[in-house]
Amino acid sequence: MPEHLVNPVMGTYGRFPLTVVEGKGSYVWDDKGNKYLDYSSGIATCNLGHVPDVVEKALQEQLSKLWHCSNLYHIPAQEQLAEVLVKHSCGDQAFFCNSGAEANEAAIKLARKYAKDNFDKELPEVITFGNSFHGRTMMTLSATGQEKIHQGFTPLTPGFSYLPYNDPEALTEVKNKKPDAVLLELVQGEGGVVPAERTWVKELADICKENHILLMVDEIQTGMGRTGTLFAYEQYDIEPDVISLAKGLGSGIPIGAIIAKEPVAKSFTPGSHGSTFGGNPVAATAGLATVTHLTNSNVLADSNEIAEYIWSGLKEIAAEKDTVKQLRGKGLLIGLVVEKPAIEYVNKAREEHGVLIIVAGPNVIRILPPLTTNKKEADTFLQVMKQLL
Ligand SMILES: Cc1ncc(COP(=O)(O)O)c(C=O)c1O
Repeated sequence: MPEHLVNPVMGTYGRFPLTVVEGKGSYVWDDKGNKYLDYSSGIATCNLGHVPDVVEKALQEQLSKLWHCSNLYHIPAQEQLAEVLVKHSCGDQAFFCNSGAEANEAAIKLARKYAKDNFDKELPEVITFGNSFHGRTMMTLSATGQEKIHQGFTPLTPGFSYLPYNDPEALTEVKNKKPDAVLLELVQGEGGVVPAERTWVKELADICKENHILLMVDEIQTGMGRTGTLFAYEQYDIEPDVISLAKGLGSGIPIGAIIAKEPVAKSFTPGSHGSTFGGNPVAATAGLATVTHLTNSNVLADSNEIAEYIWSGLKEIAAEKDTVKQLRGKGLLIGLVVEKPAIEYVNKAREEHGVLIIVAGPNVIRILPPLTTNKKEADTFLQVMKQLL
């Protein structure tokens, strides 16, 4: 691009100087033909690796049949995807949209409508947590408990308050405030790869149940096997009322969803919510092929084995190196807390070793291997990390 021209793409992203043009499995290639081991997975999206065969085949068949018809008509792949999601979760009905922010928008709208329908609430309130990340639309950035995300975009959408994550006092506050819903990530992804404590979550879930507060989990980053189970909530012995999904759901084809229990889901009546593209034949086909593969193959079991291998390698490195302050996360959502700016390691890994990893805040290296990665790739990655750290 000639230098005197303004970049025609708006500057919302600080992009790395890398142009990715192709991907397969755990690897991507740049426009000069260089190969990279991608342990960022499109930010926890390409959970089955790049262009996974099962999804590609299903998409190719769908692409020659029908791309779009609108939600005025029945869409078989959407209905089948809803069926699979419901079968493998504690929810009863699904709604489809196009992204994570839209999924959380739907969750919050549903919570508000449910509060109005059932408790005649004029001003429903949703509690979220400090350092959370729920999206970039006006309502989801308002739900996000990080001031830096709010900056420049006030006035925020009302109806949210924030409590400290993993904090016992927050539980007392929830009990006192009796909001209509709480929304939380079970591992805060963007907020630094911080897992929620099991007993804290269990207590929060109990308080919600006793006080008719909807428990809504944002599984946009943690879902679709990323933390070792299809949904992270399965590891917490809880049953959320609403689950939001996106990222890994379509293996890279844009799709978002919420799954809700029936008494809540029924507050969405015809005309109350919608999306032109939501769950369209192409997106739903990608989702169906992805979730079917995650639930019908060994991919999750294998990913747990490889996760254990990577964790033990990283634990060894962390024990040896003073530069690592903490290792945290769940499954293949891994954070390494470092003293120096994490971006320095990320840049070196890419530029000098052909390995793609990302950050989660200033001092956390975020590692998101595809669930389909193998020992050989993990060894390459661990070797690079050892050198870098
Ligand atoms: C937990 C969580 N919620 C919501 C979002 C927003 O998703 P999207 O970027 O698809 O709108 C993200 C994205 O990183 C996320 O990690």
